Amino acid sequence: MPRLTVASDGVVVELREDETILEGLHRHGYAYRTGCRRGGCAICKVDVVSGEVRYTRPVADTVLSDAERQSGVCLSCRAVPVSDTTISLREETLRCVNPLLALYATSH
Ligand code: FES
Repeated sequence: MPRLTVASDGVVVELREDETILEGLHRHGYAYRTGCRRGGCAICKVDVVSGEVRYTRPVADTVLSDAERQSGVCLSCRAVPVSDTTISLREETLRCVNPLLALYATSH
């Protein structure tokens, strides 16, 4: 299972197979700015610092351009890490919305 690190907040979580960045962080009690959660609004863009992501569903070029993809930007509601991946949020911090889930996430 890939390990996801949010470098901007020092949070590390284990992801399930085929789990998106957004799903994995939410499952571990964390939230950040999101919108449609379907790959249509682009609000959930994050920067991939290291690692690799793939998309199990198409993402429109109007939402995420080739230049953005090549520079390491990903759509976190659709991006599925294929290896240990480190991301950085943009102009915000991760919010812990469920401390018990978050505690479990960081203690393993
Ligand atoms: S939340 Fe709308 S594209 Fe990700």
